[in-house]
Amino acid sequence: MAEELPPSEKLSAMALADGPPIDLEPSAERTRIRSVLAADDMIALAGKKIVVGGWVRTGREQGKGSFAFLELNDGSCLANLQVIVDSAVHPLALLTPTGTSVVVEGVLKRPPEGVKQSLELRAERILEVGPCDPGKYPLPKTRLTLEFLRDWVHLRARTNTISAVARIRDELAYATHTFFRENGFRYIHTPIVTTSDCEGAGEMFQVTTLFSDTEKVERELKENPPPSESDIESAKHIVKEKGEAVANLKSIKAKKEEITASVAELTKAKENLSRLEERFKLKPGIPKKDGKIDYGQDFFGRQAFLTVSGQLQVETYACALGNVYTFGPTFRAEHSHTSRHLAEFWMVEPEIAFANLEDDMNCAENYVKFLCQWLLDHCQEDMEFMAKIYDKTAIERLKLVSSSPFVKISYTKAVELLINVTEKKFENPVSWGIDLASEHERYLTEVIFKKPVIVYNYPKGIKAFYMRLNDDGKTVAAMDVLVPKVGELIGGSQREERLEVLQQRILDAGLPLEPYEWYLELRRFGTVKHSGFGLGFERMILFATGLDNIRDVIPFPRYPGRADL
Ligand code: 4AD
Ligand code: MG
Repeated sequence: MAEELPPSEKLSAMALADGPPIDLEPSAERTRIRSVLAADDMIALAGKKIVVGGWVRTGREQGKGSFAFLELNDGSCLANLQVIVDSAVHPLALLTPTGTSVVVEGVLKRPPEGVKQSLELRAERILEVGPCDPGKYPLPKTRLTLEFLRDWVHLRARTNTISAVARIRDELAYATHTFFRENGFRYIHTPIVTTSDCEGAGEMFQVTTLFSDTEKVERELKENPPPSESDIESAKHIVKEKGEAVANLKSIKAKKEEITASVAELTKAKENLSRLEERFKLKPGIPKKDGKIDYGQDFFGRQAFLTVSGQLQVETYACALGNVYTFGPTFRAEHSHTSRHLAEFWMVEPEIAFANLEDDMNCAENYVKFLCQWLLDHCQEDMEFMAKIYDKTAIERLKLVSSSPFVKISYTKAVELLINVTEKKFENPVSWGIDLASEHERYLTEVIFKKPVIVYNYPKGIKAFYMRLNDDGKTVAAMDVLVPKVGELIGGSQREERLEVLQQRILDAGLPLEPYEWYLELRRFGTVKHSGFGLGFERMILFATGLDNIRDVIPFPRYPGRADL
């Protein structure tokens, strides 16, 4: 038995087997700048030796090149740590260009009296440097427009705004999981690839390998032309000959080895024939059947899409686990170039069993309030930055929303209020039955009520098939949460739990029943009253930060014509 190597030997033996050994020492333990600058008793940290790593926001040489100030940011918070480097410690010109990365060991010091910084770092050793050519770096220290930064999505997180948004976004995701966990909800992962259209709006991206498969076949056929009919015929002829040879040898009771050899030749000829026949079938172009694209030959054996919502699937778990939610990316091939729409966005979708529309509205209100309060409690510095640079009212808005009840009005009442508006002319005329446009939604929440408004009981004609039909036969138990700055933040409803009514609603929406059979089974077997909603995660960030464009609140925005990285 091989002798067991001591653990340290094992490591180097492994390294040798994989090539030259690499540096197996762990990196120096790095202190996050946030834990210095946001420490409760920052002054107590003075005199402490630490290692920090980050990117230079601004660097300037001072004292005739005898030392330099570096404003170092490591993304852990908005504020920079001021680092002072002596020219004896490192060549200063290599450290000062904006964008340079630096890992530095030093001692925290209190700056001289009267200076704004509360603590600064006196560098003792520069441990690592990642140089940055100032002539080529696209993010100089001057302020850049958000629009410009959209062309640099791979670098824009190094700016104050985009890194603050990233931290706020992360906090909102964490708050979301916290809220639902505290309220007894289970997190369910619903599929990204789906074969059912939740909203029935025909805005789905198709998932297919038919194009790449077809291109592959066409390339292959060009390089290696398919067999002709006569090639097939002669291959068939050879099979026949070989078959006859085997029969002949058997009839004359030839030696076993001779028969075996002849059978092997026959097998080879048959294999050749079937290969040729297979290739003979290859045709250029997308496969068709009865004049239509043959999705039976597609990857999933049927048409498949990227999900527009995890709702239908998460309902299956609500009807088993009770309170559940899904939180994931959703996709809509809407050709809208607005500041409120993305082709790929994230949605939070709770689904509550044994709950009606009223319960649903209350859950939505509590959730939004919880998010606002969370930001007030956990994102003070970043929110103050947003308020200072982008929207003076951002923090006031969070306070207001987290503390005052939302308005609840029926669609019919909302339309009545909008019809009576005289001080403004809407681009889209208002009458009962219209889908409220963004201008109407914003007028209700920004001008009339000046706070979040929940509009409920919409006309059935403008809402999805799964929403519960009200007794009036005209409206459905739907609700939208409208908020200032954004308009529609949440869309939800009580779900239709009655089998026959649901079947009729699917048909009335012009949809086939077959793909929804599994959904109907939830009603066939132990149906329950249940409700849910979807919150557009990026819209929530717009609402919180006061930023104007949804493309700036998702790390990698996707919209018509753009999908960078
Ligand atoms: O109102 P929607 O379409 O509702 C649903 O998808 C339901 N299935 C949700 C449910 O009941 N589980 O979308 C929900 C929210 C909207 O209110 C909006 O905030 C956001 O998703 N949203 C978008 N956000 C960004 N870009 C888009 N293209 C969006 N479309 C909808
Ligand atoms: Mg909606």
